[in-house]
Amino acid sequence: MHKPVLVVTTHFLDEIEARIDRDYDARRNPHERPFTRDELIEASSGADALFITPFDRLDSDFFKRVPASVKVIATYSVGVDHIDLQAAANRKIAIAYTPGINADATADIAMLLMLGSSRRAYEGQEMVRTGTWKISNLLAWQLTGKVLGIFGMGQVGRAVAQRARGFGMTIHYYNPTRLSAALEKDAVFHSSPSDLLRVSEFLTLHAPETPETHHFINSKTIDLLPQGAILINTARGGLVADEDLIAALKSGRVAAAGLDVFDGEPKLHPGYVALKNTFLLPHMGSATVETRLAMGVLALDNIDAVLGGKPAPSLVTKEPVVA
Ligand code: DGY
Repeated sequence: MHKPVLVVTTHFLDEIEARIDRDYDARRNPHERPFTRDELIEASSGADALFITPFDRLDSDFFKRVPASVKVIATYSVGVDHIDLQAAANRKIAIAYTPGINADATADIAMLLMLGSSRRAYEGQEMVRTGTWKISNLLAWQLTGKVLGIFGMGQVGRAVAQRARGFGMTIHYYNPTRLSAALEKDAVFHSSPSDLLRVSEFLTLHAPETPETHHFINSKTIDLLPQGAILINTARGGLVADEDLIAALKSGRVAAAGLDVFDGEPKLHPGYVALKNTFLLPHMGSATVETRLAMGVLALDNIDAVLGGKPAPSLVTKEPVVA
């Protein structure tokens, strides 16, 4: 029987790869790097669907050139900032994403970054690994009693709040719409991002990258934070103006930053690497076996549904408000 042709741009978990082999005529990326745009367009010739990741940037030029055979593109992410949604809609290509799955895994990484940056874990690791440990004098800051500002109180933001309460933090948040009392619990709502920044001794970002949130953290917004605030970003690198944050980290205006995402990743601004008050991870918020498996299943369910003419579980119908 003829199987639909699926372009697969990276390696997935074995269970997902097995399902791809069973149900599709798979065209895999032979490289240990993302496809270039030209390679992806060439691989898509005659394909029915594409299974991509945020490392595949599908801009308007891609959608001008993508073959007409492509009916659905599923991204292995809740973020869709790497896809020109309007251009996809113009070509009538369905875009599927994986919302509602990565909250726990990403919230765990946000806590790891909070602890790692505030407790100077990078410097501690370096001392132990390089044999420069003489006495333990890495005085740092604890979470207990601090105000945690959450910018974007979607599923990830709420999962972070749940964890941070256990560390004795007070939760404040900004969201485009106020949460119901049941979801808000004891968190303090701010109707403006500036008001949130003014109280945030720790600030954690959980919003998608959109034209409105691009470079949300910049020299002006940093000036609103309490002196010595700590910034955490597990959302998207583009939310931060790197030069401005690096200057604030150098001066101590921002005491430390825990970052899992970077503008232009996998490349990142070298200024972050040169600083000791940064705790850096390679975009691994969703990287647990449980979460990545569920993301793969949902992505393939979407492709199956669109190609089978059935209602798909999670197509992007409009820009998601909060990641
Ligand atoms: C997401 O789901 O968008 C995460 O950032 C993983 O890419």
